[in-house]
Amino acid sequence: MPAGGFVVGDGQNAYPGKLTPFVLFTCVVAAMGGLIFGYDIGISGGVTSMPSFLKRFFPSVYRKQQEDASTNQYCQYDSATLTMFTSSLYLAALISSLVASTVTRKFGRRLSMLFGGILFCAGALINGFAKHVWMLIVGRILLGFGIGFANQAVPLYLSEMAPYKYRGALNIGFQLSITIGILVAEVLNYFFAKIKGGWGWRLSLGGAVVPALIITIGSLVLPDTPNSMIERGQHEEAKTKLRRIRGVDDVSQEFDDLVAASKESQSIEHPWRNLLRRKYRPHLTMAVMIPFFQQLTGINVIMFYAPVLFNTIGFTTDASLMSAVVTGSVNVAATLVSIYGVDRWGRRFLFLEGGTQMLICQAVVAACIGAKFGVDGTPGELPKWYAIVVVTFICIYVAGFAWSWGPLGWLVPSEIFPLEIRSAAQSITVSVNMIFTFIIAQIFLTMLCHLKFGLFLVFAFFVVVMSIFVYIFLPETKGIPIEEMGQVWRSHWYWSRFVEDGEYGNALEMGKSSNQAGTKHV
Ligand code: BGC
Repeated sequence: MPAGGFVVGDGQNAYPGKLTPFVLFTCVVAAMGGLIFGYDIGISGGVTSMPSFLKRFFPSVYRKQQEDASTNQYCQYDSATLTMFTSSLYLAALISSLVASTVTRKFGRRLSMLFGGILFCAGALINGFAKHVWMLIVGRILLGFGIGFANQAVPLYLSEMAPYKYRGALNIGFQLSITIGILVAEVLNYFFAKIKGGWGWRLSLGGAVVPALIITIGSLVLPDTPNSMIERGQHEEAKTKLRRIRGVDDVSQEFDDLVAASKESQSIEHPWRNLLRRKYRPHLTMAVMIPFFQQLTGINVIMFYAPVLFNTIGFTTDASLMSAVVTGSVNVAATLVSIYGVDRWGRRFLFLEGGTQMLICQAVVAACIGAKFGVDGTPGELPKWYAIVVVTFICIYVAGFAWSWGPLGWLVPSEIFPLEIRSAAQSITVSVNMIFTFIIAQIFLTMLCHLKFGLFLVFAFFVVVMSIFVYIFLPETKGIPIEEMGQVWRSHWYWSRFVEDGEYGNALEMGKSSNQAGTKHV
């Protein structure tokens, strides 16, 4: 079996620690950093389908939309400035996530979260009061800077705070708040679009101040992580904090390991170059391929442009926002399924099941749209049952993503990197995610215009490729303590040639391997 040869750890080497109310509180507050990312994803598509917003900032799109439905529906939203509005944010986020990795390392995780909240707040205000297109773009660049900082710091913060046994569930808390942010934004859009006078879009965009304040205030009340304190030389405070977080007195084993890991990572002069060493080849591959594939599922076509898409297939503005609310709720609910199942059924099962589900739905949606719109984009009268079938399959597709590539796209990278490369590798994951979010956002509307229903088949093709990739190359990481993760590469049919026995990882990893009696090879 190509993907065989993985390891099951029994978790006996896990450090003592409970799910204390304190750690739960800090993780819930920190996970809310995902809200700003989600709010933004959900708000953009809805706002760009509000006629008053289009009329004011993108009049040519507005005019096209007013034209007779007999003109080509695939191309009615194809406007470079409109896509620039949506995607400028992701470019800004990519740049700031790289800067954030230094701030996070040198000044602590909290400071990056604080910067994230403040920048996002500023962007929200400029957008809410925007009078010209350039104000919208500047506002979105600030929002992007905010997201870059938050997305770099929050997952790191969560992994460092969470007791080992609950790391998976707490990590998916970040994805859960992304999905809640998306849903809240979609519900608000639905009501704000109804405001007479057509200024509802100002509330939608300005409303981003609320999640921004949550993470800003949150970062002021949260403690920094013990890892970060140790990195900055505050050993005694770190030990006291660790006892409080874990709810046990004996934290010496974890504390010593954190100090060793910190020494190890400080001895590395060029963290980026270090990543290129042969023994980190599997990690680097996953750091790049997982976020790349996550975006190539095509999920953000639905997230950004669901209302636009629903409009295109014949829904009115109201109904299209309502449909987006439906997909948003499915997204949240299916993420809960993932929290429940990720440590029971494993990552590989979710990846492969979710992939198959997405593939079937993409094929059906492509067939439905192709059948009615043909290649010239002229649908004629669309029956109600037709729209219901399309929305149903889009929902099943979203559910498939939301319990597989959505949360696992953030969880798996964060659990497979050994400590000495964790920070740099995490930055790569965030950057690759942002680059491809940007590319999809930038070219989707043009692609819809040119590829028509075939666009869905392009994403379907990538879903096949990524599922084969997971099947062949991704080892199961369920139930394996992070410090023992080297085993999965060592016993993998392909990756073992890069990661040889005794060569993997740092002093911490080597120390651990001497007491791995409870680890069995499958
Ligand atoms: C992805 C986003 C996506 C969201 C949808 C996240 O994991 O990174 O790009 O919009 O999930 O829920």
